[in-house]
Amino acid sequence: MNRRRRIYEGKAKILYEGPEPGTLIQHFKDDATAFNAKKHAQIDGKGAINNRISEFVFEKLGEIGVPTHFIRRLNMREQLIREVEIIPLEVVVRNVAAGSIAERLGLEEGTQLPRSIIEFYYKNDELSDPMVSEEHITAFGWSSPQEIDEIMSLALRVNDFMVGLFLGVGIRLVDFKIEFGRLWEGDILRIVLADEISPDSCRLWDVETNDKLDKDRFRRDMGNVLEAYQEVARRLGVLNETRPPQGIVPVLVASNPEKGGKSAP
Ligand code: TMP
Repeated sequence: MNRRRRIYEGKAKILYEGPEPGTLIQHFKDDATAFNAKKHAQIDGKGAINNRISEFVFEKLGEIGVPTHFIRRLNMREQLIREVEIIPLEVVVRNVAAGSIAERLGLEEGTQLPRSIIEFYYKNDELSDPMVSEEHITAFGWSSPQEIDEIMSLALRVNDFMVGLFLGVGIRLVDFKIEFGRLWEGDILRIVLADEISPDSCRLWDVETNDKLDKDRFRRDMGNVLEAYQEVARRLGVLNETRPPQGIVPVLVASNPEKGGKSAP
């Protein structure tokens, strides 16, 4: 494990070289940062929960035909993903005013927006991820007009699906951030959903109480950060799931001596 080649280390994740060409291992850390890493803490167990929640959401999105980088979960903290060329944009979709849009436009947090709004931020820590328009994106060549069309259409599909998914478990999807990558499949260049979807990258409010079940608890020093993430995992039915990840079923040795038993189902 230590000898694996580290390709990239971010604030909450590490990417290692994968077992086959074109694959990577995405490792979820327990680190939490906010305000461009000016605030930093360890939240024991966060990485494992985000790994599991992100797996669940990416699998569901894959099932409805959204192309993603996700291949399968490997263990508590890691998942196997396709290597993609990350487009240097943070794509934010908002349904309800909160966070920076509330501040910027003087909206009261919790106000329903007239429609879902997509925003782009240039992924650059040194500049603290400034908000940019399509004009900046195309002029500086970060992405093409065709790619932006595809990204916006995928972002809205992801939003529609996730609004329903979370509403089904009593959670209001206020907003979220996603990232996309380029993936060559033969001669065809595809835009695929990458990175993660977790309470680190979404605003999730309880429908009844408006309790925050996301990283704002950390950003705003509200406490019970892990408990909130666990609540999201519990509602989605993925907390403490002891079932091993798909495809890696351990062989039980002599679990039932009477039958001379060995293999697992
Ligand atoms: P904002 O209101 O601070 O602009 O955040 C919008 C959404 O994007 C919110 O769900 C949190 C998420 N987000 C990230 O995932 N990473 C970031 O660096 C920032 C600033 C926001």
